[in-house]
Amino acid sequence: MAAFMIIFFFIAFSIRSCRANPRLELVARSCELATVKNKDDYLKNYELILQHMEPEMYRNKFAFHEAGKPPDKLYVLSQCMHDFSSVECVQCFARISTILAACFPTTGGRVYLDGCFIRASNYSFYREVTSNADIKRCSDDFETGDDFKMVLKDMLPKMVLGAPDNKGFALLKGSRNGTTVHGMAQCWKILDKDMCSTCLADAVDLVFRCMPAKEGRALTAGCFLRYSPYYFAHDTNASVIRYAIISFIIYMLMTVIICTLAVAVGLHLGRMVYKQMNPPREWRGKEVDFAVLDQAMKFLQFKFSTLEKATDCFNEANKLGSGGYGEVFKGTLPDGREIAVKRLYVNGRSRSREIYNEMDVISKAQHRNLVRCLGGCFTIFENFLVYEYLANKSLDCILFGKLSIRIRI
Ligand SMILES: *[C@@H]1O[C@H](CO)[C@@H](O)[C@H](O)[C@H]1NC(C)=O
Ligand SMILES: *[C@@H]1O[C@H](CO)[C@@H](O)[C@H](O)[C@H]1NC(C)=O
Repeated sequence: MAAFMIIFFFIAFSIRSCRANPRLELVARSCELATVKNKDDYLKNYELILQHMEPEMYRNKFAFHEAGKPPDKLYVLSQCMHDFSSVECVQCFARISTILAACFPTTGGRVYLDGCFIRASNYSFYREVTSNADIKRCSDDFETGDDFKMVLKDMLPKMVLGAPDNKGFALLKGSRNGTTVHGMAQCWKILDKDMCSTCLADAVDLVFRCMPAKEGRALTAGCFLRYSPYYFAHDTNASVIRYAIISFIIYMLMTVIICTLAVAVGLHLGRMVYKQMNPPREWRGKEVDFAVLDQAMKFLQFKFSTLEKATDCFNEANKLGSGGYGEVFKGTLPDGREIAVKRLYVNGRSRSREIYNEMDVISKAQHRNLVRCLGGCFTIFENFLVYEYLANKSLDCILFGKLSIRIRI
């Protein structure tokens, strides 16, 4: 069971993680030049701040926090792209904060991944929109078509207009004559709408200078902007649906396995309880007498109609008597032989056991040179055993009584 669960969760997580997330790759890192006075305190504060920020990154995909005393007071701000899920954001944050740590013991630095951003310094930079450390990153391959240029010229200003009113995030797609360009813009959430607009206008100026590069990114103090001919965003709806489907499949598999196991265990326990409550008394500890079974197999099958005819429809006048197991009638077969027909009071379920018992008695009786069984008649409703009729008191005893007990006497 546990093994199954582990396997399923492994499969579930490998579905999510086997595809390496290209948005977690490093785009740019820059470190400040000045160094701090007390490196140990600074690093300790960094750890403290990260711990404080992580749950906020999960909740808001954005966080900032500071710790320590000037001039070594540390300020950290981090932001994920809005299309990232909370889990992706925390993954990105874990990675980016490690990359930034390599800047110390300088006063700080900035790291940009395609999915998130982090910055640290020894002053409050939180509301900076632009800075002289702003850069662009352009791909080496070019897209010289006019359509491409036209799409970009049309799309980029739309991002500057759209993002400030959409929580600082814009995801656009522009097409012209079969040429498609995807764009994404993200302002840090600490900036107000005007600051966001200013930042993105600056970022657009930067990436325009990337053209005719196929891909361009603007990495500034207050925002991130990217264009690409490839679709790179994480469709949050799709990932939610995929997650839901995977969860549903796992849920169904687990349910089926648990139910199957429960039914199997239930059946097994039920059988054990049934066996304990209904021990096969006659069979227990008793060796099966194969000679008796063999005899039973050779049993002559009488037709019900034959027995009916022989006993005159089980006429009361032909009744020899009745006992614990049934009634006995005297009858005459068409060939003149006289028979005793025993009608058994047993239902179908215990029939074989009763018949075995009877056969066992007969075989023992034969040892004493008494009674001969001729055969039987078994229908759905009634069962009969047919004996040779002997006017003998011992036989009466065997036929009418609790046979096995009487025999022992
Ligand atoms: C930041 O650190 C540098 C180098 O230690 C220092 O000169 C500067 O005054 C610090 N800035 C603040 C705001 O404390
Ligand atoms: C598509 O390209 C053709 C020439 O290749 C041009 O004539 C046409 O105007 C273009 N269509 C658009 C919508 O730009």
